Amino acid sequence: MKVLVVGQGGREHTLVWKLAQSPVVEKVYCAPGNAGTAVDGENVNIAADDLGRLMSFAKHNDIGLTVVGPEVPLVAGIVDEFKSHGLKVFGPSKAAARLEGSKAFSKEIMKKAGVPTAASKSFTRLEEAHAYLDALDDVPIVVKADGLAAGKGVHVCKNCTEGKAAATQMLQDGLFGPAGQTIVIEECLEGQEASILAIVDGDTIIPLETSQDHKRAHDGDLGPNTGGMGAYSPAPLVTDDIMDDIIRRILVPTIHTMRVEGHPFSGVLYAGLMLTQHGPKVIEYNVRFGDPEAQAVLMRLKTDLTQILSLAASGRLAELEGLEWDERPAVCVVMASEGYPGSYPKGRAISGINEADQLSDTKVFHAGTMAKDMDVLTDGGRVLGVTAMGDSIADAKQAAYQAVERICWDGAWNRSDISDKA
Ligand code: AMP
Ligand code: GLY
Repeated sequence: MKVLVVGQGGREHTLVWKLAQSPVVEKVYCAPGNAGTAVDGENVNIAADDLGRLMSFAKHNDIGLTVVGPEVPLVAGIVDEFKSHGLKVFGPSKAAARLEGSKAFSKEIMKKAGVPTAASKSFTRLEEAHAYLDALDDVPIVVKADGLAAGKGVHVCKNCTEGKAAATQMLQDGLFGPAGQTIVIEECLEGQEASILAIVDGDTIIPLETSQDHKRAHDGDLGPNTGGMGAYSPAPLVTDDIMDDIIRRILVPTIHTMRVEGHPFSGVLYAGLMLTQHGPKVIEYNVRFGDPEAQAVLMRLKTDLTQILSLAASGRLAELEGLEWDERPAVCVVMASEGYPGSYPKGRAISGINEADQLSDTKVFHAGTMAKDMDVLTDGGRVLGVTAMGDSIADAKQAAYQAVERICWDGAWNRSDISDKA
């Protein structure tokens, strides 16, 4: 079978690498891909949001399964388009992708499902948002743009004055454009965060191993928010009891409610959780694999990913007899460009990737890279996700950082404390 992966980041390189290991897969294409997906698969020069050309490519190249990495094409309805042309595709429909595409919709579903989450209210009118904030005690508050904002739409505010400023920026000044025309104001939760990814086929839910991301740019969780500076799996904080609670009180009622509401959810349900004193609460839903969580989690997966995603795309996940995992933990350290998450240069030559890749139980996943002649050049803010397994989290961390040390380019940097929270 030929497989197409849509996207170009670290998550997509991980998917290409894993899907290509399947005995039933003869070739994996990646559109548009990066320098890493060109080695583990074959790149196709079509942008991830060019639905028409992606569909035409899949039709004319006998693609048996398409796996969509990023949220933008999912929210735009790529799955509905592919299905209407008889193409097999893994991911949620446009209606179901609103779990990530609209935070107001997502909150509505959580309320209907009785899922524990931060108390919240949605607004489209600035006066009403300000009046609501004025009536609150001066507590920390979170203001979120309703729509997709490339990971920048969440403002965690120290008090209601800051909250009002954020509401004004979004509703009045057009920060985030149409994505900020509706906002969600919610209670600020305290605790440690964990990411739960589950494969779903509309009905059956198969949770993957747990993981934790590191959102802030600098060590000790300081500095600005990023797409994620590193991850590890499993997250020991999520005990078996907590996981049971998450399945029973969060995953099952959400998937049930999506079906009852007429938008059955198929694809990856990613629950971003806060583990609070009062139990796990949902911070947000995403409708795709996390990046860099996928790197750490999928490195440990032993079951054939192609089989899992094919069954999910056909609504036959119940036929799968559980998943097999490597018991060893994995740690992924993101190496970033100078200036990220602000603006950064591109086109710097990277050395040492092959040397790092040769270390045992280590894989260098490319995120923002491009190949030019014989060189690999930086082409994004998050450039590489250096991932390694070890007998303990400490061993996996050490192995990942040993690999990081072999790689360099002008301006490269990374956090040095990935997995310390575990
Ligand atoms: P997002 O961009 O939606 O992934 O959110 C970015 C980060 O904002 C999350 O990873 C949390 O650290 C933080 N955040 C979002 N909502 C809340 C909340 N209700 N309480 C506390 N922190 C939050
Ligand atoms: N690592 C966070 C995300 O994928 O949204």
